[in-house]
Amino acid sequence: MLSRRSLLASGAATALLPRGLAAQVLPPEGFGTPAGTFPFAPEVFRERRRKLMDAIGDGIAVVYGAERPAFDGPVSPPFTQDGDFAWLTGIVDEPGAILILAPVERTVREYLLLPPREPEAERWEVERLPLGADIQRRTGFAKVFRTSALGPIATTLAERSKTLHFLGPIASITAPVPKALELYGQIAARVPGTSIDDSSQILPAMRCVKEPREIEQMRKAAAATARGHIAAMKQVRTGWTEGQLQDAVEAAFREGGGTGLAYGSIVGTGRNAASLHYTGRTGVIAPGDLILIDAAASVGGYACDVTRTFPASGKFTPKQRDDYALVLAAHEAALAKLKAGAYFEDLSEAAKDVFRKAGRIDDFTHGLGHFVGLDVHDVGDLSKPLPAGAVITIEPGLYVQAANYGIRIEDIYLVTSAGAEQLSEGVPRTIAEIEAAMAR
Ligand code: GLY
Ligand code: MN
Ligand code: MN
Repeated sequence: MLSRRSLLASGAATALLPRGLAAQVLPPEGFGTPAGTFPFAPEVFRERRRKLMDAIGDGIAVVYGAERPAFDGPVSPPFTQDGDFAWLTGIVDEPGAILILAPVERTVREYLLLPPREPEAERWEVERLPLGADIQRRTGFAKVFRTSALGPIATTLAERSKTLHFLGPIASITAPVPKALELYGQIAARVPGTSIDDSSQILPAMRCVKEPREIEQMRKAAAATARGHIAAMKQVRTGWTEGQLQDAVEAAFREGGGTGLAYGSIVGTGRNAASLHYTGRTGVIAPGDLILIDAAASVGGYACDVTRTFPASGKFTPKQRDDYALVLAAHEAALAKLKAGAYFEDLSEAAKDVFRKAGRIDDFTHGLGHFVGLDVHDVGDLSKPLPAGAVITIEPGLYVQAANYGIRIEDIYLVTSAGAEQLSEGVPRTIAEIEAAMAR
C-alpha cells in the first residue's frame, strides 16, 4: 500500500502500476497517445518549465490541461489543448492532463499526470500508452502518474513548500472558478499555513516574447496564409457563394504548407462583411461587392491572422477606393508607432485619429489588435510597453451595414527594437497591388 509520502519517495513511475501492466505490448512509435511533444522536442518544453520554476522560486504550481469537449454523438469533436499547458508540455493529445511544478524540491520538481486509461473508449477513439519508460521518453517527464495521484502528490508537496502559485488566467466572476484555485482551496483547508499567490502575470509575460523557433513556425503559417489570400483574389468569380470562396482559400492554405486553420475563416461579401466575425457561407458574390476575408493558416499549432478586403469585380469604385484608402492610412499610422517599448494604446490612438479627422470614428467598432501565438488571441498584457519579440496584429476597419460593406486590413508584425517586421508579407495590400493581382 502506498502512503502519500511513499508515493513521492518511490523511485519509479511504475510504482502505481498494477502488477503485470508493464509487460503489455506497447503501440509502436507513431501510434497511441501521448504521441510525444509538439511541435518541438521534449527538451524545449523542459527548459520552459525550468524558466517558469526559476521565476516562481518556491512553492508549488498546478496547471490543468483542457478537458475533452462534451459530446453526445457518435464521434468526438476535435480536442484543442489549453495554450499554457501546450506551451509548457507540448502534449496536445491527452484531454484532462495535469502538470505539477515544485521548484524547491531537491530532485523531482515536475510531475505529469495523465487521466486513467479507458480500454473500452480506446477501442473507439485512440489507444493510449500505459505508464512506463516509453511514456517518459515521449513526454520528457521522469515522473508520469495518473490523475488519481493529484491529491496525494499536491498535498505532500504543499506540506513542504507552502505557497500555492496561481498561474492564471484570472477568470471573470461569472465564469466557473478555475480548477487550480479550487484545488488550492481544498489544500488550504487541510494544510495549515498555505497561502495562494497571484502569479498570473508570469506565463503571459514569458509566452508573449516568442522564441526564434516559434517565429519560424509563424513565418511558415504566414507564408501559407499568403497563398490562400492570393488564391482568393485570383480565383474569385461573381456568382460564387462565400462558402465556395472559403473552400478555395483553405485549400490554398494547405497547398502552401498550412497544417491547420488558425481560427474559423470569415468570408463575407457585401453587407455580410459588416458583421465583424461573420459566420455564414451562403451569401452570393455580386459584381459591385467588396469581399472581406479574415482567415489564416496555422503551422505547428502557431496561428497567423490576416484580413484582406477586395472588390469582387477586381476594380474598386471611387467610393470604395476612398474608404479603403482611409483604412489603409489608419493601419499605416498605427504601424508608424510600432516598436519595442511602445504602448499599444498609442498605436490605437494613431489609427483612431485618422478616422476622427475623416469624421468616421463611429464606423470603427472594435479594438485595433491583439497578440498572436499559439492562440490567435494570444496571452500578454497590452497595457504594458510592447516587448521585442512579441507578435501583434494591426487591424483597423470601417463597417457600414446600411451601405452594404465592411473593410478591414489586418497583418501580423514581429515587434523589434528598431520597429517591426511584417510576418504576413506578400499579400497584396495597396489598391494598386490588389487590382494588379486581380487583373485577368
Ligand atoms: N481573426 C479574428 C481577429 O482578427 O481577431
Ligand atoms: Mn485579429
Ligand atoms: Mn483576423
